[in-house]
Amino acid sequence: MSTLADRPENPVVGRRAAHESAALHVTGAAMYTDDVAEHTAGVLTAWPVQSTNAHAKVTIDVSGAYEVPGVVRVLTADDVPGLNDAGIRNDEPLFPSEAMFYGHALVWVLGETPEAARLGAERVQVEYEPLPSIITVQDALDAQSFQGTPRTVQRGDASAGLAGSAHVFEGVTEFGGQEHFYLETHASFAIRDSEGQYFIQCSTQHPSETQELVSHVLGIHSNEVTVQCLRMGGGFGGKEMQPHGFAAIAALGAKLTGRPVRLRLNRTQDITMTGKRHPFHIAWKVGFDADGMLQALDAVLTCDGGWSIDLSEPVLGRALCHIDNAYWIPNVHAYGQIAKTNKTSNTAYRGFGGPQGVFLIEDILGRIAPQLGIDPLELRRRNFYRQGQTTPYGQVVKDAGRMSTIWDQLSSEASVDERRAEIARFNATSPHAKRALSMTPIKFGISFNFAAFNQAGALVHVYKDGSILINHGGTEMGQGLHTKMLQVAATALGVELDAVRLAPTRTDKVPNTSATAASSGADLNGGAVKNACEQIRDRMAAVAGRLLGVDERDVRFGGGFVTALGAPLKQVTFAEVAKAAYLQRVQLFAAGYYRTEGLHWNPEIMQGSPFKYFAYGAAATEVEVDEFTGAYRVRRVDIVHDVGDSLSPMLDIGQIEGAYVQGVGWLTLEELRWDESDGPHRGRLLTQSASTYKLPSFSEMPSEFSVRLFENAREEGAVYGSKAVGEPPFMLAFSAREAIRDAVAAFGPAGHSVELASPATPEAVFWALRAAQAASESASATKDETPTASEPALAPAG
Ligand code: MTE
Ligand code: MOS
Repeated sequence: MSTLADRPENPVVGRRAAHESAALHVTGAAMYTDDVAEHTAGVLTAWPVQSTNAHAKVTIDVSGAYEVPGVVRVLTADDVPGLNDAGIRNDEPLFPSEAMFYGHALVWVLGETPEAARLGAERVQVEYEPLPSIITVQDALDAQSFQGTPRTVQRGDASAGLAGSAHVFEGVTEFGGQEHFYLETHASFAIRDSEGQYFIQCSTQHPSETQELVSHVLGIHSNEVTVQCLRMGGGFGGKEMQPHGFAAIAALGAKLTGRPVRLRLNRTQDITMTGKRHPFHIAWKVGFDADGMLQALDAVLTCDGGWSIDLSEPVLGRALCHIDNAYWIPNVHAYGQIAKTNKTSNTAYRGFGGPQGVFLIEDILGRIAPQLGIDPLELRRRNFYRQGQTTPYGQVVKDAGRMSTIWDQLSSEASVDERRAEIARFNATSPHAKRALSMTPIKFGISFNFAAFNQAGALVHVYKDGSILINHGGTEMGQGLHTKMLQVAATALGVELDAVRLAPTRTDKVPNTSATAASSGADLNGGAVKNACEQIRDRMAAVAGRLLGVDERDVRFGGGFVTALGAPLKQVTFAEVAKAAYLQRVQLFAAGYYRTEGLHWNPEIMQGSPFKYFAYGAAATEVEVDEFTGAYRVRRVDIVHDVGDSLSPMLDIGQIEGAYVQGVGWLTLEELRWDESDGPHRGRLLTQSASTYKLPSFSEMPSEFSVRLFENAREEGAVYGSKAVGEPPFMLAFSAREAIRDAVAAFGPAGHSVELASPATPEAVFWALRAAQAASESASATKDETPTASEPALAPAG
């Protein structure tokens, strides 16, 4: 236990620091995995041979590849000295004998140049013996094709709750997946040194697991493999589990040829080979009392896991733990299962199932509000958790009151009532364009559900000159974790930011690390860095006390100086204390460690307290929808989001903006289309590049975008009072979907419930608004007692 103040005056955390690599990013000087490879002499390139069948036994003849000049080696199943597996569940053969999806990598060709490897791959002959394939979730449901363990979250009695409800509704909610589209595709680079040690530079969120998998494939121990991650050009969950096999291919190539091997997927390979966000199919029944209070929810959630299990079980678990979002539902029965299909293996993606769970309840509230005759914003506000209530999985909702505080603050700061009145006036006189403003809340649980992952390590060195080098187990993917860790170290040691440097994340510096995921990078690694720094600082305090002639408990560190309480004129520099400590043989480096306390979770019954705390936020989005095309525009967005006491406000605001826009992409633009026909390309991903897969770009940015951090939000027990930020704001994008729904509703009669396909592309919005208009027409037809239904309705919409 540290004897010194937890938080010095004028701390470096909480300052608006620029991303530690900002200058490198904007000048193009930042090195990524394949840049490291490119600067290595004698490096070979690996190129995959991909299946052109969704499901088939394969017989492969690689001899043709060797006729291509520059082809050095073709890697096949026969070459694997250890385990032929690219996953951790033993269901992903690295070199398969059965192609499980269209695009599945079957063998890999190593060439002197990328061109030679590519031409060699074209010459590999694959014979397919086709097997039946399952492409859609509906097909999987019909065929009862599942994988992994189904789970149930249950509280109270959902059937009795429905039976006792004044209003009961049922429906189906379906939505699509999402491609990560990180700017840097998957990349690995392997080199075997003179001692037989493998060094792998990999674009991975989970270096320790990459290391573990490479050693399994090679049949060696973890201490023979070092994995480094300098930085990633985005991960978004897509590099949590999926990089391992690519690293193993590169390492195997390095072993067999004795040469360095690089592997970097091009965009088409990346998008056709790697997993995406899980699409879901959800059948539900919901009950409300006469006042619109939620009484019961009964749901069956089926997610599309793709061809292998990957992270589908924990993703489904988090979905089940977020179907309540911010709402108290007394009786819940939610059953979740994982479909097995012949598509890429779906994986982690920002929110890790949370967005899919939240989707369900927000879709229900958005659809049902008109039928209850309650304003959707009021319906949401009314159902918020109150202090002391628990989630369906049994965790007390800590700081529940914060949700309504944030909601009301946002509502007034964004002038929601005034603007909605104005919008109603606009809509009344605008037959062909309708506007709406909607608000949605988010409550998101922070911590890995799997308790063992909630630990982290760090290694901190103070050199004799007072300069500091830190290592921690987290990876940098653009989110600013490294910057935050520099700020934490500078704060804990009482120096300025420029006194601290950060060394690349490596498994030989900090072992057995967790994935940088679940938004907990700063919580966990920050805890470990702080712990290491405080050990050193406490030892230095004793030295400084002697230098200053005061009790060590009265020593204060700050701004690169060490001072004594009550003796402001006595002061030495941090560097002078470091030098003195060295001469006095005081240890100036330390290993730090952190584990999250107080978590418990029973995955079998899905009950416990899996989260350290909840992150809260709310967004208000205004859109305008065009009648003739279904096209829409996000006019204005206001967000109030809770990051505790921000470690780094500028980075946090950047995370909130980016997450929101990425969420809007998922909900409104990004559509994965697969060939569902029985033709020769059944199972092929049709949207293979940015030309057919529409990503949010600058032109989709809201015209007005205001993000505010919730103030005085200190979270006790988290690093410097901060909260995780990476994923929760992704789900603020539901406000855009709900605003589109309400704008569509404005084309219909009062009380019309809008079913909106997801993603709500302009096409989907167009059909939803046609349905709303049709409802208007039939409503006025009934009112006017129009004689025949076949007579074309001429009445204008709205
Ligand atoms: N921000 C950027 N720029 N790039 C990313 O890849 N990944 C997100 C989020 N923000 C990501 C990002 C995801 S999925 C997670 S879990 C967190 O960052 C991980 O980092 P953290 O734990 O340090 O917040
Ligand atoms: Mo984030 S989906 O937990 O990598």
